[in-house]
Amino acid sequence: MCKCNDLYFRERFETPRPYFDPTTTEKLSYRDEKGNEIASVLFHVLEREIRLSEIWVSPDYRKKGLGSRLVRAVQTVSRATGKKITATTHKGAINFFFKLGFEISDDQFTDSAIDIEW
Ligand SMILES: CC(C)(COP(=O)(O)OP(=O)(O)OC[C@H]1O[C@@H](n2cnc3c(N)ncnc32)[C@H](O)[C@@H]1OP(=O)(O)O)[C@@H](O)C(=O)NCCC(=O)NCCS
Repeated sequence: MCKCNDLYFRERFETPRPYFDPTTTEKLSYRDEKGNEIASVLFHVLEREIRLSEIWVSPDYRKKGLGSRLVRAVQTVSRATGKKITATTHKGAINFFFKLGFEISDDQFTDSAIDIEW
């Protein structure tokens, strides 16, 4: 069983990935009992928007609400800062984002690149 509320981490973004600015990037994640990461969201608090760049849930833990909880946490930051959330998603995940209130922000999209916002 996943004791998700006990496994909620907020951490500074420390993984060296040169294309992300560490001063604006935040990561939220869930871990299992052994400390392995099972779900995470990466987002960037920019001047005018919050850019959600990655969200991922380990296949064994999908459809249990973890992805929604991570997005809702970013939505809390959005409310607190007054900045909209933007992201680019794909056809396979668009309904997940629709359920969380996101809308398509650009009519010019393909199955693999759909711009959305909240
Ligand atoms: C998309 C993803 C993050 C969803 O995480 P999750 O923890 O499984 O999502 P939740 O359990 O919070 O699901 C919330 C709702 O969205 C639905 N949902 C989840 N993933 C879905 C998908 N891929 N397509 C359609 N609906 C989906 C769930 O059924 C659930 O609906 P319900 O409330 O009616 O039961 C996860 O499937 C994933 O990591 N996918 C691979 C990486 C990816 O595609 N990331 C998005 C790139 S932008």
